[in-house]
Amino acid sequence: MVKKAVIPAAGFGTRFLPATKAQPKEMLPIIDTPTIQYVVQECVDSGIEDILIITGRGKRSIEDHFDRNTELESRIKEKEDETLYNQIRHIEDMANIHYIRQKELNGLGDAIYYAKDHCGHEPFAVLLGDTIINSVIPVTQQMIDTFEQYHQTIIAVETVPRDKVSRYGIVGGEKISDHLMQLNELVEKPDVDKSPSNWAIAGRYILTPEIFDAIEKTPRGKGNEIQLTDALRLLMKHENLMALSIEGQRYDIGNKLDYLKTTVEFALRRKEFAGPFADFLKETVNNMK
Ligand code: G1P
Repeated sequence: MVKKAVIPAAGFGTRFLPATKAQPKEMLPIIDTPTIQYVVQECVDSGIEDILIITGRGKRSIEDHFDRNTELESRIKEKEDETLYNQIRHIEDMANIHYIRQKELNGLGDAIYYAKDHCGHEPFAVLLGDTIINSVIPVTQQMIDTFEQYHQTIIAVETVPRDKVSRYGIVGGEKISDHLMQLNELVEKPDVDKSPSNWAIAGRYILTPEIFDAIEKTPRGKGNEIQLTDALRLLMKHENLMALSIEGQRYDIGNKLDYLKTTVEFALRRKEFAGPFADFLKETVNNMK
């Protein structure tokens, strides 16, 4: 059973500067909801309520966001805005959230290593804190279902255009069904001409506790950081690793263009904005022609 999730959220967010100079990229809102709240909601919707968020310097607002704010609650109560009150209480009660700080930014592999004591000998889900995935069945749920069938490390993947492979961890392997692949290669941000495929790691994983030993043995890799992808490649020497091609739409919030697209798509899906916002967009595009 996968009962715990780890959300790494310690990175600098350099791709989104200057907005992320003094605020975490994970708190960038999609309309009115911070990115990380969607990620926590995915855990909850997948049946996980024990969540460890790996934070770091400058990430306090993440903790504040999921904490109770009784003063704010009573203010909203006075105004008798029940919908808003329930929304605020929902955030505070969503899950049992723990925090640990990554002391130095030594990469995703190093960040995950901070979960060793919390996760112990259990398998756990990893959801990158700057990635929202919209799907009918939450992707973490899709992965847990696969894990329960195979009891192997599962990595979520999706195809990306060939010219974008150097932005991602890329996997290679043998397809064993429409959505599943047995892996024989993993490489972090390969050059286009050296990439084993265009199957990119999509920011969701189910890991077994054996990953911690592998991380310990992983030397610094791309960007002089300890890469989770490199640790997984080491682990592959002793264990079978699988990739699940996700059913869903992935939004990488750390990237400015993707962030804009996400905001527009999510706004068009919201009942209160859909009509007028679509009209505004059409008009704006037409006026620009
Ligand atoms: C990380 C992982 C990479 C993965 C990507 C997905 O990279 O290291 O393997 O493909 O997330 O978003 P980052 O985007 O943090 O550089």
